[in-house]
Amino acid sequence: MKAIVRTKYGSPDILELKEVDKPAPKDNQALVRICAASVNPLDWHILRGKPFLVRLMGFGFLKPKHQILGADIAGRVEAVGKDVTQFKVGDEVFGAGMGGFAEYGCFREDKLVLKPVAMTFEQAAAVPVAGLTALQALRDNGRLQAGQQVLINGASGGVGTFAVQIAKALGAHVTGVCSGRNLEMVRSIGADHVIDYTKEDFWRSGKEYDLILDNNAGRSLLKPVRALNPTGIYVFVGGSAFILTMLQELILKPLFSRKKGRKIVSMMARVNQKDLAFLTGLLEAGKVMPVIDRRYTLSEVPEAIRYLEEGHARGKVVITV
Ligand SMILES: NC(=O)c1ccc[n+]([C@@H]2O[C@H](COP(=O)([O-])OP(=O)(O)OC[C@H]3O[C@@H](n4cnc5c(N)ncnc54)[C@H](OP(=O)(O)O)[C@@H]3O)[C@@H](O)[C@H]2O)c1
Repeated sequence: MKAIVRTKYGSPDILELKEVDKPAPKDNQALVRICAASVNPLDWHILRGKPFLVRLMGFGFLKPKHQILGADIAGRVEAVGKDVTQFKVGDEVFGAGMGGFAEYGCFREDKLVLKPVAMTFEQAAAVPVAGLTALQALRDNGRLQAGQQVLINGASGGVGTFAVQIAKALGAHVTGVCSGRNLEMVRSIGADHVIDYTKEDFWRSGKEYDLILDNNAGRSLLKPVRALNPTGIYVFVGGSAFILTMLQELILKPLFSRKKGRKIVSMMARVNQKDLAFLTGLLEAGKVMPVIDRRYTLSEVPEAIRYLEEGHARGKVVITV
């Protein structure tokens, strides 16, 4: 089969389209003929081994553990391991696991769900990591309640476009923050109010929110915390200073997280079937629809990663296999 392969840490230039052996599923895995994959910032972090922390998170200290990147996939089940009970050959599925930038991959049964019939493989492949991050940030870490005022910073990217729609589906009043060129798009997916971060310092607007989801956490945690109401929650999931921000979180958390006070939470998304099924429900009900920015072919994965790394994708970047 064809796959985009790397053997060391480095830039997208080291990625090569190669002929490799088709993998065989373990007992708890399905072999999936991949029809589409999507790109996440995680891919370029694992590609480069940066920040260094990712190497300590099981992705390989000196040498990368995964030769084939790509966490999000959608495709058809081609074979199943002996313990797999939920899927059979021919089922159309989507989910997550490493190895998506290839014609075939093996994925754990508990990280897959059936693809909604009305969705294309490209749409389904756009969902897992970004959709789960948005859902878990808002519903679980942010404890979002209907009627609350929610601010989503980085509303136009992969996570942000899901977050705007999920927050609306959960009954929130949503303010989306993005650059001027994306204001209309963010409004079109349901934001009640939009702010252009190139024109307005929204942290200092004087408005207070019940929940802030920050996809682009900055160096100071004090600014966003000041924009929370007295019981508000600030959840941050990414940003160029993510690790520094997490260190600040350790120091500041005890100050803010008194019993009824403001809360600061950083989070890492967890891939699980229950939440994939919850997202499937929202997709089938038409409450959430993936926003796809660009499509690339398998051989164009290096370009796709370079584009995402620029940090201004408008929704998701999809690979058609
Ligand atoms: N913790 C986790 O489990 C987890 C999971 C997934 C992703 N992440 C992280 O979350 C972040 C977002 O992921 P993603 O998939 O949404 O990335 P993405 O698709 O690359 O989106 C980046 C978005 O950030 C916006 N942006 C850039 N500069 C900004 C600024 N100064 N202020 C506000 N927005 C700005 C861009 O909007 P404009 O073009 O309008 O500027 C773009 O739409 C990344 O750092 C990623 O590593 C974390």
